[in-house]
Amino acid sequence: MANVIVIGAQWGDEGKGKITDLLSRSADVVVRYQGGVNAGHTVVVNGQTFKLHLIPSGILYPDTECIVASGTVIDPKVLIEELDQVEALGVSTQNFKISQAAHVTMPYHRLIDQASEERRGSRKIGTTGRGIGPTYADKSERTGIRMVDLMDLEGLRAQLEWTIQYKNVVLEKLYNLPPLDPEAVYQEYLGYAERLRPHVVDASLRIYEATQRRANILFEGAQGTLLDLDHGTYPYVTSSNPIAGGACVGAGVGPTMVDRVIGVAKAYTTRVGEGPFPTELVDGIGEHLGDRGAEFGTTTGRKRRCGWFDGVIGRYAVRVNGLDCLAITKLDVLDELAEIKVCVAYDVNGNRCEHLPTDPRQFALCQPIYETLPGWKTPTSECRALEDLPQAALDYLKYLAELMSVPIAIVSLGASRDQTIIIEDPIHGPKRALLDSE
Ligand code: GDP
Ligand code: IMO
Ligand code: MG
Repeated sequence: MANVIVIGAQWGDEGKGKITDLLSRSADVVVRYQGGVNAGHTVVVNGQTFKLHLIPSGILYPDTECIVASGTVIDPKVLIEELDQVEALGVSTQNFKISQAAHVTMPYHRLIDQASEERRGSRKIGTTGRGIGPTYADKSERTGIRMVDLMDLEGLRAQLEWTIQYKNVVLEKLYNLPPLDPEAVYQEYLGYAERLRPHVVDASLRIYEATQRRANILFEGAQGTLLDLDHGTYPYVTSSNPIAGGACVGAGVGPTMVDRVIGVAKAYTTRVGEGPFPTELVDGIGEHLGDRGAEFGTTTGRKRRCGWFDGVIGRYAVRVNGLDCLAITKLDVLDELAEIKVCVAYDVNGNRCEHLPTDPRQFALCQPIYETLPGWKTPTSECRALEDLPQAALDYLKYLAELMSVPIAIVSLGASRDQTIIIEDPIHGPKRALLDSE
C-alpha cells in the first residue's frame, strides 16, 4: 500500500494518462493537483479512447474517487463538456469531486491569454490558449474567483461586476477587444455552478481522511517537469508546478504522506509550443517519430516537436522530483530505427555541461552530445515481458536506467492497458532497484 505521485519527466505528453489509468486499478483515490484544461491525457481501454483534460485518469474505475484538487484551475465550460462526454461513453462521474479552493477560468482569462500571445509576437510562449496563465496570475494577485465563490451566487454577481470592470479596461485599452458584459458572464456561470455544485467538496480534508483510513492515493501530475513554473525552462513553461513537490501544495497534503514518486518519460522526447529543445530533430527521423508516435497535441491538435531522448533532462527530472522509478513509454515508436541516439551531456561553447542550465540564453546554446546505440528493427508492441523484448531494446532500457541512476518499473509499448510490461508494481511492490540492479 502506498501513496504515489505520477509526474511527467519531460515537456508533457509523456503518457501520464495511460500510466495513471493503469495504476488506478490499485488506487482508492486519484487526485489531479495542478494545471487545468491545458492538459490532455489519453486513456485507451478496450479500443475506446478517452481524452481527459481535467478529470483524473482514474475515472474509468467506478469505485475510485477522483478529485480535482485546490492547486488546479477549473474551466467549468470545458469540464462540463468533458463530464458529458465520459458519461455518454457509459462512465459514471458520481465519484468525481472538485475542490472548493480551485480557481475558476473565466472568459476574460481565455481572451487575455490569446491576445497576450499575439502581442508577444516572436516572444510568444506557444500556450494552449486556454486561459491558464491569466487564471493563475489572478490567483497570485488575489483577485481570482474560486469554486467556493462560484457556489455563492449572490456574492458572485458582485464579484464579477467588480472584476470585469477592471478586466474590460485591459481588454479594451490594451488589446483593442470588445468589453464583456458582467451580467451575461454571470448568467452563463450560474448554469455551470448549478451543474457542478454536487461535485464541490473540501478536497484537502477529503484527501486527509483518505490517508487516515489508509486508502491508496495516486496523485496525477499534468504537464511535465520542464514546464514547471519554478523549475522548468522559464519563460517557456506553464503557470503551475507539475513537479512532485507541487502535489503536496496542490492537494494540500504534507510530504510525509507521500511514499513514492514515479516519473513518466517517453523513450524519446517531444515538446509542444515554443522554447529551446536541444535534441529536436528537424529531419526525416523527427518526422518518423512524429508519424509513428502520432505526435499531435491532445488539447490543441498542434504537431509536437520530436527529438532524441535527453539524459540531461532525465537526470534533472530525477533530481527535482526525487524520482523512485521511471515508466518508459512509447518504446514501440523506436522499433524501425537502425540506430538510436541518446543525449548524455551538452556542449556549450566548447564546454561540456552535465546539468540543465538555469539561464535560458545558455540553454538555447546547448548542443547535444550523443551516444549512439543500435536499434532493434523488430516490432515490440506485442511484447508482454522483458524476456520478449529484443536484446537491443532491453539494452536501450538498461542504458537509460543507468544514465539516470534510477530503476525502470514500467515499460509501455502501445496505448492500450495490456501493451505494458510491469517490471515491478510501484504501488504494491517493494521499494527497491529494478532494472539497474541486474
Ligand atoms: P499525457 O498528457 O502525458 O497523458 O500524454 P498524452 O495522452 O497527451 O500523449 C501520449 C499519447 O501516446 C497518447 O495518444 C497515448 O494514447 C499514446 N501512448 C501512450 N503510451 C504509448 C505507448 O507506449 N506507445 C504508443 N505508441 N502510444 C502510447
Ligand atoms: P499534458 O498534461 C504538453 C505547454 C504549452 C506551452 C506551455 C504553456 O497533456 O502533458 P499553457 O497553456 O499551459 O500556458 O502553455 O506549456 N503545455 C503542454 N505541453 N503537454 C501538456 O499537458 C501541456 N500543457 C501546457 O504547449 O508550451
Ligand atoms: Mg497530453
